[in-house]
Formats: sequence, structure tokens, C-alpha cells
Amino acid sequence: MSSSDRVSRGASVQVSASILGCDLGRAASEAQRAVKAGAGMIHADVMDGHFVPNISFGPDLIARVAAVVEVPVSVHLMVERPERLLQAFLDTGADRFIVHPEATPNVRRAIDLIVEAQASPGICLNPGTPVSFAEALLDHVDEVLIMTVNPGWGGQAMLPEQLNKVRELREMIEAGEIHDMDLSVDGGIGPATAREARLAGANILVAGTALFGAPDPAETVRQMLG
Ligand code: DX5
Ligand code: ZN
Repeated sequence: MSSSDRVSRGASVQVSASILGCDLGRAASEAQRAVKAGAGMIHADVMDGHFVPNISFGPDLIARVAAVVEVPVSVHLMVERPERLLQAFLDTGADRFIVHPEATPNVRRAIDLIVEAQASPGICLNPGTPVSFAEALLDHVDEVLIMTVNPGWGGQAMLPEQLNKVRELREMIEAGEIHDMDLSVDGGIGPATAREARLAGANILVAGTALFGAPDPAETVRQMLG
């Protein structure tokens, strides 16, 4: 089993709050605010200025967030060669670590390091990357995260055709071709797009701007969960 005990695969539909969309100067209390509003997970976007043009935050901030929330914390590593940086992030106390197969020729090594640390591994596919690119990895992960924007920034509009990859993966699970796992969408997800993503088969809805920018985040979570 590769799952850490704080993360369950393929469970009920959850909103995962992307702290990239909050006031990062108060990330720990902002994460608590999101959980209070009903977010079932916290999503932490790590950007290295190479794999994506932007730079976000590192392990210290994630450790501060993980220390104060009871829900699972997922670390989305938008970094080149994640296997070189992983240990610092594994030490944060976060639960799930998501790597991009586009970012390293050694993605399997990265997944194995995550499993060895008794954490939960996931992979993320950029808009230009088909599911078939990651076929050999699907038996080894607890989550496939489909980017529904080009990674790098919050606040972009969802690319609806990316949901075809969610449909493809959900069909593979239903046909018994791959094991049950979390299917998530990341980018431009909010009350206006969550339903389409759920209908496509996503069970983790990552939201930054829509959640932290909302006047009533609890209402936003309710709307997203339908
Ligand atoms: C984009 C990030 C997303 C981002 C989503 O590179 O991976 O997690 O925070 O932000 P919104 O919800 O604002 O589109
Ligand atoms: Zn993300």
C-alpha cells in the first residue's frame, strides 16, 4: 500500500483549497479558514521558476500549514527533477506529493522515494500531455491530477477539453483497467466549472481564487460540491 493513512484513494468528492490563492503572509490561518469553510484538503503549489516561469514557496511554509490543519495536505511539485528536492518536502509533514512526469526522466524514482517515505504519490499531467504518456505509472500512484490550465499562475480560465482526460481515466477505472484512485482537476475550478468537472469523473476539485476570493467561502464549497 502506498497511501498514507491520512489520505484515502477515490473517496467522496472534496474541495481542495489551493493556498496559492490566499494571502501567503498568513498561509496557516488562511488554510484553517478554508478548512472551516468545508475544504476537505489543502493543496500547496510549489513552483521553481524553471518548470514553470513563476516561483511560489517552499517547504517551510508548507510545514507551517501542515502543522495547523487536520485535513490531508497535498504538495503539487511544479519543479524540474523533483527527485532532487523531494526530501525537504517529505519532511514537511504533508501527506501526498504530486510530481510531473514531464519534469524528469526519473519520475519512477520520484514516486518510489515518496512511497519509501510512507507518503502518498500522485502524478500531474500538463494540458499538452496525454494520459498515454503516464500509462506505465498508473499502477503506482494514488492520484492523477489533470491540469485544467497551463501551470504557473492562479486565476486562469479552465480549459474545458482537459476534462476529456478525466473522462478517459474514470472510464479506465470503471472498466477495471486501472485501480481506483483520486482524479483531480486543478486550475479555473469554482462554482461555475465544478459541476462539469464532477460529471467528467473528478473527485478532488482544487480551487484557489474561487475559494479564497469568495465573500462566503463556505457557500462556495457548497456550490462546488453541488
Ligand atoms: C496553477 C496551480 C493551481 C492554482 C489554481 O499552476 O497548480 O493549483 O493555484 O488556482 P485557481 O483556482 O486560481 O485557478
Ligand atoms: Zn496545483
